[in-house]
Amino acid sequence: MQGLLESIIENNKDLVKEGKVASYIPLLGQGNPDHLGIAVTNLDGREYLAGDWEVKYTMQSISKVISLMLAIMDKGSRNVFSKVGMEPTGDGFNSIVNLEVKKLSKPYNPMINAGAIVISSLIEGATVEERIKRIVTFAQKITDNKSIRVNEEVYQSEQETGDRNRALAYFMKSNNILTGSVEESLEVYFKQCSIEVNSRDISRIGAMLANDGILPWTGERIISRETARIVKTIMVTCGMYDESGEFAVHIGIPAKSGVGGGIMAAVPRRMGIGVFGPSLDEKGNSIAGIKMLQELSKELDLSIF
Ligand code: DON
Repeated sequence: MQGLLESIIENNKDLVKEGKVASYIPLLGQGNPDHLGIAVTNLDGREYLAGDWEVKYTMQSISKVISLMLAIMDKGSRNVFSKVGMEPTGDGFNSIVNLEVKKLSKPYNPMINAGAIVISSLIEGATVEERIKRIVTFAQKITDNKSIRVNEEVYQSEQETGDRNRALAYFMKSNNILTGSVEESLEVYFKQCSIEVNSRDISRIGAMLANDGILPWTGERIISRETARIVKTIMVTCGMYDESGEFAVHIGIPAKSGVGGGIMAAVPRRMGIGVFGPSLDEKGNSIAGIKMLQELSKELDLSIF
């Protein structure tokens, strides 16, 4: 496995030149496009790490999986999915159009920004700080990494430039899709996106999901088998946004991307995978990350289909 991961890094080195590092959040624009990392956590707890696996990046949309799990634990899945749908969209992750044109009573799914902001509004806690702390603590527990925290600079950058998310949230508030304080829900959302991780952390999240909600290295149950099943299914249908279909055909693994350049993947009953490459395609997914997952899937026959 170690040799395979190292050759995957080597084979995809040239891909870092393709695509662009996200810059609509200005601080992400400072990301180094040459970084390429991969980590695998097997369900016996063994880990394999190669390339720039140790480089930290912000979770961005990968955090939507963390907040979805926590919201389901807090409110129950019936409640959560009465407020957010389960259907994929053929639109971009920050699309506004459907909310008005289709007169939706809830956003299509929890992986697009509109749905994720509603999910953030459901996380319990007496104060915004407490809600954010619960998300960070939950991420620390799943990754067995107590040093995980919010990158405050990225958070500031998101807060200052997040007008499109603000527009989505206020529109949803005007239609009673979102209730409570818009600014508080956005603060939770921006902060969860700014949680900083490395590829090993991400692969451990994938491993917990691959192991039906149980941490492979301690045997501790984190979420119910049912929640793990729901989350992995939504990752398959919506995790790569309007690239989810192509990703399912070529790679066939439940996965979630983030504009920080990471992709978290969970191969049921086999392994968790974290890949990192900050250059993105036009859909906001890591180009090298997708290719590395494709190579790994082919070599190890990982497609679930
Ligand atoms: O809200 C945003 O636009 C970012 N904080 C997260 C978007 C994202 O990661 C989309 N994923 N590929």
